[in-house]
Amino acid sequence: MKGNAWASKVGFILAAAGSAIGLGAIWKFPYTTGTNGGGAFLLLFLVFTLLLGLPVLIAEFLIGRTSGKTALRAFSELGHKKFTFIGVLGVIACFLLLSFYSVIGGWVLIYTILGFTGRLTTMDSGALGELFGTISASPLYVISGQLIFLALTCWIVLRGVQSGIEKMSKIMMPLLFVCFIVLVVRSLTLDGAMEGVKFFIQPDFSVLNRTSVLSALGQAFFSLSLGVSAMLTYASYMKERGEINRSAAWIVTMNVAVSLLAGFAIFPAVFASGLDPAEGPALLFIVLPTVFSQIQFGSVFLTLFFLLFAFASITSSIAMLEVVVASLTDRKENATMRDKKRTTWLATLAIAIVGIPSALSFGILGDAQLMGKTFFDSVDFLVSNILMPIGALLISIFAGFKLDRALVEQELVTSPMMKKMVPIWRLSVCYLSPIAILIILVWPLFG
Ligand code: TRP
Repeated sequence: MKGNAWASKVGFILAAAGSAIGLGAIWKFPYTTGTNGGGAFLLLFLVFTLLLGLPVLIAEFLIGRTSGKTALRAFSELGHKKFTFIGVLGVIACFLLLSFYSVIGGWVLIYTILGFTGRLTTMDSGALGELFGTISASPLYVISGQLIFLALTCWIVLRGVQSGIEKMSKIMMPLLFVCFIVLVVRSLTLDGAMEGVKFFIQPDFSVLNRTSVLSALGQAFFSLSLGVSAMLTYASYMKERGEINRSAAWIVTMNVAVSLLAGFAIFPAVFASGLDPAEGPALLFIVLPTVFSQIQFGSVFLTLFFLLFAFASITSSIAMLEVVVASLTDRKENATMRDKKRTTWLATLAIAIVGIPSALSFGILGDAQLMGKTFFDSVDFLVSNILMPIGALLISIFAGFKLDRALVEQELVTSPMMKKMVPIWRLSVCYLSPIAILIILVWPLFG
């Protein structure tokens, strides 16, 4: 990014895709699919992504692009100061999000280092399970991992090296795909793999409950970074018109592709090695080393995979920090570079402090529960299943009813076909998405 504008069209897509693709698609998606019974959850996730996620993503891009301002100023810039609270909610959500995202980011860093030792691929799944238990429960490990992850994120945002990240993404993202393909091929050829494929793609609706439906919605929004004004902020740095549709379509496609690859890498191996798909957050960390251990040069691939995974997580975490910092500095008319640096430091420090109880939730604070959930799960639930859907609902209504129609047409109508799509998009953001989100949100309350 140069002087708050993307260096190129591709730069924007890469950055937005970088923010989307991360722990959500690679770590969270397989484990929530596992705990929610498989195929039916996948189907819901896909339907929600296309029917609700895509239109809301376009809505966020529109607000950011047409206002050219970040979360806290976009709404007043468009002449609707009253709606600024949507941006405020988004900034708070990004802050909370990074506080627990960094915990898992820390685990990924620890596993990357363990990968270099070559030990992971020599262990069986029992030992891997124990190792994960020890690491995730050790205050020393988890807090160091989290702080290093946050420090890296802060460093990148401070140095403003986003343009470097853009360049690196061009190499790292395709490599991540390649690594995944290798993994998927190996996983699918293991003995007993088909059971896993069935679990992943054969819908059994009897295993779903209301909370699973809400989780599928949460997952769709989480993995597309929606509802928290992050995509809005990134789109505000976009200087060209008419790129919204294409970018949105790309991001949704890549995100779904990575989620599916993660599922096909993990579930066949889970069943082939007799593990439990409902293992929870540990799933990826136990299963992947098991698969890699059965590949030539598995240890090298495993390390490379974790490196790329860490990179993908960091391109997401810098987006979260960027939203917080950019919104806070953007409030002042003439914020200096020094203001921005100070805000970055202070925000990172505050996020680290708020994040510590989440880091300890898999160990010494495991018994400290709020409404039956650990601290980590509570913050995750609040952000992913409440704040994100509410944010998405409000953004969608705002874009549908308040954004100037002529402006919307200018942005979206890039071809005669697109002209026909605009009314469909409008129908979705004005009625379909808000009503669906509302129903899914309140439904678990009546049961
Ligand atoms: N989509 C990110 C992931 O899958 C997580 C995320 C949600 C996010 N909201 C965000 C990232 C806002 C950046 C900004 O890992």
